[in-house]
Amino acid sequence: VFATIVRAPEDPILGVTVAYNKDPSPNKLNLGVGAYRTEEGKPLILNVVRRAEQLLVNDQSRVKEYLPIVGLADFNKESAKLIFGADSPAIQENRVTTVQGLSGTGSLRVGAEFLARHYHQHTIYIPQPTWGNHPKIFTVAGLSVKTYRYYDPATLGLDIQGFLEDLGDAPSGAIVLLHACAHNPTGVDPTLEQWEQIRQLMRSKALLPFFDSAYQGFASGSLDADAQSVRMFVADGGECLAAQSYAKNMGLYGERVGALSIVCKTADVASRVESQLKLVIRPMYSNPPLHGASIVATILKDRDMFNEWTLELKAMADRIISMRQQLFDALCARGTPGDWSHIIKQIGMFTFTGLNREQVTFMTEEYHIYMTSDGRISMAGLSSRTVPQLADAIHAAVTR
Ligand code: LMR
Repeated sequence: VFATIVRAPEDPILGVTVAYNKDPSPNKLNLGVGAYRTEEGKPLILNVVRRAEQLLVNDQSRVKEYLPIVGLADFNKESAKLIFGADSPAIQENRVTTVQGLSGTGSLRVGAEFLARHYHQHTIYIPQPTWGNHPKIFTVAGLSVKTYRYYDPATLGLDIQGFLEDLGDAPSGAIVLLHACAHNPTGVDPTLEQWEQIRQLMRSKALLPFFDSAYQGFASGSLDADAQSVRMFVADGGECLAAQSYAKNMGLYGERVGALSIVCKTADVASRVESQLKLVIRPMYSNPPLHGASIVATILKDRDMFNEWTLELKAMADRIISMRQQLFDALCARGTPGDWSHIIKQIGMFTFTGLNREQVTFMTEEYHIYMTSDGRISMAGLSSRTVPQLADAIHAAVTR
């Protein structure tokens, strides 16, 4: 009965790792998926995560019962405080409902499903370009996906004019997906002044913000600075949605731990929204997994562990920033044609190099460097040892 099924293509991002794993070369380098690596090229488990896990293992009172449909209560409470700020009026007035999600993707998916069922506007605007999974998540939930201009290939920077024009043309009430910080794949973010322009326009047209916050603390090294955009929208008293991921900032990739918060106008509305979120979640996966959320809650609740986390987070962010400088310097040293200053200007995990598909294919075939075909490289996968290899490959690709 399945004989006519056609083979689906690999995922444009996770498929890069599949190709990388098949390459027998000892010099291969995976700069595809956004996953942090140490200077030695190894995955990193944060010390604070190990400490939290040890505490959990040693606690004989812990059991493996089901979590409630909405997840671990402490985790939800702490996650809302982390993104909105502990002193957020929306939290103090109980206007926020937060549910645990399966990392960023699962949280976006639940939010999208909720909007498709209960929100009057089914059009969602996403930036052009955006993370490859975004359009799929929203389409499968039944929303209609449109794009707004975001990145200008000519300046390798933000097209704020196009951004504002496209939101200005959007129908009233449309949903707008915003990257809270460290835009993926471009590494280009609006300035605070530009965020304010975006906020004013969106509120004047009653556009509904849906933030994807996958990199809080990773862009600048500061948890508060990286949540500024979200907090601006919450400070004006309006509604918004926010999906959080702890994959990158706590290195909990495979634990699939994240959260969806919906900021409402009143506490009563928030509690009704939560009741409906439960109806979305229950038939999807019943209730979320316990372990990752327990790790996060343990760290966020304890001042000492929280501080240790911020130091480790800053160290990861700083290493990525230093990789930007090293790659930029290496290209300058080689006299590689072109202006490469965007490498040090862009922020977060990725550099959007401007390399085209043919150049990427060349770098993979000749230099065993794996990256997404849009020219995005994960700076977090780079080390001082591998910078020369990447710089040589880029140089060869652009001077061919
Ligand atoms: C990425 O963009 O590389 C990450 O967000 C990982 C993923 O799931 O695609």
